[in-house]
Amino acid sequence: MNQLELIRALPKAELHVHIEGTFEPELMFAIAQRNQIEIPYKSVEEVKQAYNFHNLQSFLDIYYAGANVLVHEQDFYDLAWAYFEKCHEDHVMHTEMFFDPQTHTDRGIAFETVINGLQRACNDAKAKYGISSHLIMCFLRHLSEEAAFETLAQAMPFKEQIIGVGLDSSEVGHPPSKFERVFAQAREAGFLVVAHAGEEGPAEYVWEALDLLKVNRIDHGVRSEEDSVLMQRLIAEKMPLTVCPLSNLKLCVVDDMAQHNIRRLLQQGVHVTVNSDDPSYFGGYMNDNFVAITEALALTNEELKTLAQNSFEASFISDAEKQKWIAEIQAL
Ligand code: ADE
Ligand code: ZN
Repeated sequence: MNQLELIRALPKAELHVHIEGTFEPELMFAIAQRNQIEIPYKSVEEVKQAYNFHNLQSFLDIYYAGANVLVHEQDFYDLAWAYFEKCHEDHVMHTEMFFDPQTHTDRGIAFETVINGLQRACNDAKAKYGISSHLIMCFLRHLSEEAAFETLAQAMPFKEQIIGVGLDSSEVGHPPSKFERVFAQAREAGFLVVAHAGEEGPAEYVWEALDLLKVNRIDHGVRSEEDSVLMQRLIAEKMPLTVCPLSNLKLCVVDDMAQHNIRRLLQQGVHVTVNSDDPSYFGGYMNDNFVAITEALALTNEELKTLAQNSFEASFISDAEKQKWIAEIQAL
């Protein structure tokens, strides 16, 4: 089997995807129209031309503006369903989707509206395609600790539908330490915890995510390589990093895919996984990310299998389910 065939054939888990970042311009236009909400673009082409980012913030401004057209439960369903169709095409068999409740509740949309739409799509994906999923709600780190506490309180009635909490949005200037107390309460309530760290922010933020937030995974974490003591810790603890290659390229975290460190991290024994982050904005879904790194970094078939296996090992599914997927990968 050649590498492109292997990438397609491998069952994969996606552990770092923001559902609002899967919003394709065509669907954005359709939903804007039916909700009679103005968007600052005349055409799908004009939207795509705006997707030229020079850092994380320049992307976030456009990403939050796009999410403003989501109002009704059906809008959240349609958004998530379109993503599940992509999962099916890419043989992503399990996904742990982030959603940003504050992006919606701050506009007066009920938490329940968001979660009901997403959950219904998750149920349909399991029934139609056999794709399993979990939901992870993220706190927006540019907002206050108090706002995060409020969001956690709003989530409590839906606790059974939300496996964990995460931390996203503008990283630099908003270190994990700002949310230490909220994460303690979330863990106490039984949520698993993850956090974006070491994307644009320094390795120090990865230390804080580990020591103060006590995360189960680090989202991105590519700047960990700048700190050799941190690297030893990640390797020793088998701490997963959910790496997003096309995102790193589009947001200028790396200048060139050939300079991406995912293969070096893998070879040093870090538990890295491949993910799409915000695929509608960054030029590709799961398999596009695999193809981009395979071409730029000359990954071997064995490395591709390890990356797929890592994705299930680092996921929040049961050990029995993990074993089932790993056996399938090893048989390829
Ligand atoms: N929200 C959506 N995508 C993000 C990313 N890559 N980093 C931080 N916050 C985000
Ligand atoms: Zn992300």
